Amino acid sequence: QVMKNISGLKEMEKKLEAALGVSKAVIVSGDSDQFALVKNEIGLACVKEIERNLESENIIAVTGGSTLAAVAEMMYPLKKAHQDLLFVSARGGLGEKVENQANTICAKMAEKAEGRYHLLHVPDQLSDESYHSLMEEPSIHQVLQYLHRVSIIVHGIGDARQMAIRRHSGEGILEKIDTEHAVAEAFGYFFDQTGRVIHKVQTIGLQWEDLFGARSVIAIAGGKSKAEAIKAYFKRGPDSVLITDEGAAQEILKNF
Ligand code: BG6
Repeated sequence: QVMKNISGLKEMEKKLEAALGVSKAVIVSGDSDQFALVKNEIGLACVKEIERNLESENIIAVTGGSTLAAVAEMMYPLKKAHQDLLFVSARGGLGEKVENQANTICAKMAEKAEGRYHLLHVPDQLSDESYHSLMEEPSIHQVLQYLHRVSIIVHGIGDARQMAIRRHSGEGILEKIDTEHAVAEAFGYFFDQTGRVIHKVQTIGLQWEDLFGARSVIAIAGGKSKAEAIKAYFKRGPDSVLITDEGAAQEILKNF
C-alpha cells in the first residue's frame, strides 16, 4: 500500500510539473487544510530541497507565513565545513503574528541550521515618506544588497483576500482585490487568475526582479484551499521548485 502511494505521488508530481510549468514538483501525502501535521511534512521536504542546493556561499532569503514557520520547525544542522550559510529576511515585520513574520522564522531557521542571519528591521508596509528615508539606512541597505545576490529563495503562496485581511490592508486594497479579481499573493505581490500583478505592497525587501537572479527559487504552499492561488501564481511565475501536498495537487489537476 505504501509503495503504491509513493509511485502514485511520483506520477502526480510529473503531471503537476507539466500543468504548472515548474521545473520540479514535490508532493507530500495528505491535505494540510485537514491535518496540520502535513504542513510539517512540507517543511521537511523543503529543508531537504534547500540542502540539495547548497554550495560554498549561500544567501538564503525567507518570507513569512505559517508554511515557512513549518520549515523552521523542521530545520536541522545544515552547515558543513567551508560552507557559508547566511539567512536573510525577505520581508519586514508587523502586520502578521510574530510567529509568522519573516524575521522570527529567519532567525530560528538560521539557528537550527547553524548558519548566520541578517534580519530586516522595518515594518512591512510603508508610506512613501518612510520608504524613501529607510532606504538610506545603512543596515537596510545591507540587506537589500544581500537580496540582490540571493542564491536560494524560499517563499509561501497565499490566497489574495485572506492575506490582505491577515496583513490588515486598507479598504482600498480589499476593493482592488475584488474588482480586479486577485486570487494569489506572494511576497507582497497580488496576482489575478492570469498571473498579472494587480497590486504590490510598498515594502522594503524581496522584489520581483530578485527572483530571476537566484540559483533556486522554492515555493511552498499546500492544502486544497491554495489550489487556485498556486495555479494563478505560476501562470507567469519564475522557474521554481514547488513543494506542496496531495490536497492542493489533486485540486489543481482536476480540470487539466
Ligand atoms: C506570507 C508570505 O508571509 O505568507 C507570502 O510573504 C505568502 O509569500 C504567505 O503568501 C503564506 O502564508 P501561509 O500561512 O499560508 O503559509
